Amino acid sequence: MARTGIDTSILHKGSHSASFFDVARAAGEGVEIVDFCIPCNPYFPTPEMFDELSRDLKSILKYYPSDSSAITKKLASVLNLHPQTVAMANGSTELITWIDHLLIKESVAIPIPTFGRWTDQPMETGKRVDMFPLQERDGFRLDLEEYVQFIRERKSRVAVVCNVNNPDGHYIPRRDVIRFMDALSDLDLVVVDESFIDFSDAERYPSVGPDAVIRPNAVVLKSLGKNFGLHGIRFGYMLANPAIAGKIAKMLPKWNLNSLAEKVVHMISDHEMEYEESLRLLSRDRRSMGRELQRIQGLTVFPSQGNFFLVKLPSEWSGVALRDYLVANHGIMTRECGNKLGMTSQFMRLVVRPAADVDRLVDGMLDYAQRFHTRSVYDTDPMESTPRARWTDPAYDDQPDNLIQYPAQRAGNEYTARRAAVG
Ligand SMILES: Cc1ncc(COP(=O)(O)O)c(C=O)c1O
Repeated sequence: MARTGIDTSILHKGSHSASFFDVARAAGEGVEIVDFCIPCNPYFPTPEMFDELSRDLKSILKYYPSDSSAITKKLASVLNLHPQTVAMANGSTELITWIDHLLIKESVAIPIPTFGRWTDQPMETGKRVDMFPLQERDGFRLDLEEYVQFIRERKSRVAVVCNVNNPDGHYIPRRDVIRFMDALSDLDLVVVDESFIDFSDAERYPSVGPDAVIRPNAVVLKSLGKNFGLHGIRFGYMLANPAIAGKIAKMLPKWNLNSLAEKVVHMISDHEMEYEESLRLLSRDRRSMGRELQRIQGLTVFPSQGNFFLVKLPSEWSGVALRDYLVANHGIMTRECGNKLGMTSQFMRLVVRPAADVDRLVDGMLDYAQRFHTRSVYDTDPMESTPRARWTDPAYDDQPDNLIQYPAQRAGNEYTARRAAVG
């Protein structure tokens, strides 16, 4: 009998992860769910901000919000953006939908693995999606020069790049993204999805937002739900020159943004310091969580600048079984990546969380390993061994034999993933 009472069949329905609400509803009374699945900022809003939101909840729910252009103007003034360069919508997912409907006419290139809407949305509307497979042997790092060459070979008319990329957490320096935009100034559109960029600490000003708004064909996408730790509100925005931003803004319904979104937009200018502090704490947690995960024998941890880690499980573990075991026995939700293009069930995405939650996750993973796998390393204390960072340690030059393999020559029109023996 599962310790949490959760029937894991809810994890096997549909192509998306079960929602937090699905899992919480299925849990027995008093079971506290820890979410390592949905990447959001655990340190923002602060408890005081939540108190303020709770105090105002009645009027927030009772009254119409201002119309979306008024809320967008306020957001632009709070973030010091030119108002005509901003379009705000119900989550960046909604903007991806409109970008597809209005700005992608025939084809779009996208590196995979990545956020599923970037491949699924244009396919649903009949566009050609040119998938550029990131290679596991390169740690899923995106080489922009190779990507540009691929875009030229395929004659893609729109190019997308996610910086930071989901699920691998790879970050591309700003100067390289600017070069990329310039190399593709003849395309219909270049989209830089920066939904996770606030979490990166690689450079002081990582965003290409200011560079996009002075270019003829560039869009930058931001997810406020991720940044502010408020996925439930559904708000995000895009930056582009006034012609492109205006084209999208005009299509959005007048009262598209809700009163909670309006309330938070008005609150954030008073809480800039707390937001900065939340990002600092997140960077600290990312470093310590990375170190903890690297201590699990056989687990590959990919370096990340996002608020999540991509990990590859030891070859004898099953991602689906581990995900189910963690929910059923430890109340821990994780993202098993088997349904992501370019990934297999051997990969998991684990959200960066505070140390106490990470301890619970690691305990759960070791509990799974001890129960189902008899690898001798778990008979002793697996946490005792010296950690090795596969993607940062130059001495680590032996190639595991179960990498996801793609054809070296990416010729032809079809993307075909050849998956080597990965359990
Ligand atoms: C790269 C990327 N872009 C956009 C989104 C959508 O974010 P939102 O919640 O703002 O719709 C996601 C969600 O995971 C994502 O990974």
